[in-house]
Amino acid sequence: MVARGRFITFEGGEGAGKSTQITRLAARLSSLGLNVRTTREPGGSPGAEIVRHVVLSGAASALGADTEAMLFAAARVDHVDSVIRPAIEAGEWVLCDRFTDSTRVYQGASGVSPALIGALERLALQDLAIDLTIIVDVPAEIGLARAAARRGDGVTDRFEGDSLEIQQRRRRGFLEIAAAEPDRCVVVDGTLDVDGVEAAIWAAVEGRFAETGALAQRPV
Ligand code: TMP
Repeated sequence: MVARGRFITFEGGEGAGKSTQITRLAARLSSLGLNVRTTREPGGSPGAEIVRHVVLSGAASALGADTEAMLFAAARVDHVDSVIRPAIEAGEWVLCDRFTDSTRVYQGASGVSPALIGALERLALQDLAIDLTIIVDVPAEIGLARAAARRGDGVTDRFEGDSLEIQQRRRRGFLEIAAAEPDRCVVVDGTLDVDGVEAAIWAAVEGRFAETGALAQRPV
């Protein structure tokens, strides 16, 4: 029987630098001989990528925040069932760029009730547990400036263009989740340089998994 893999999610506001860090953590875990898979939400499976286009283009915003939340959940059900759960059962370490906390924070900030968000979360997760959530925290002004620099002349997606006040509320939302669930979440200072953030994330991963032997070097 293959040992179960692990599920690590990355969360944070716009321009937090999650993607760079996911690539770096994946390389580090792979160098230990672990099987690593990186993925993202919304998306990560063919069906969910279609929904990604619908929600991020803003095409669904006229349907209201509850419907948008249901679309994110529909994408997540497909992603979990077709990619994440099978990978973890096959022993892979799955690193996911955004997951359920983004729904709590973004759709929560758009007025979706905690009851609906909770129900959608249970629907998508079933018995799936997140082993570790890394919240990359940056002040909203810094994140927005980074996202704008990365975008260049490109257009903002459905959520990037929201006001500074909304982005600040989202930042507080992520920090509140971290405070409420300290066993699952670690907050990392995303204003450090890229190497500094990587080191902080690695310390969190070692702290969480080293003593269980899960990180033990395997033959590559
Ligand atoms: P990203 O590619 O920058 O991560 O863009 C995804 C956007 O979608 C980001 O603005 C956050 C938003 N989002 C939600 O609003 N709810 C969700 O459940 C997820 C996964 C993302």
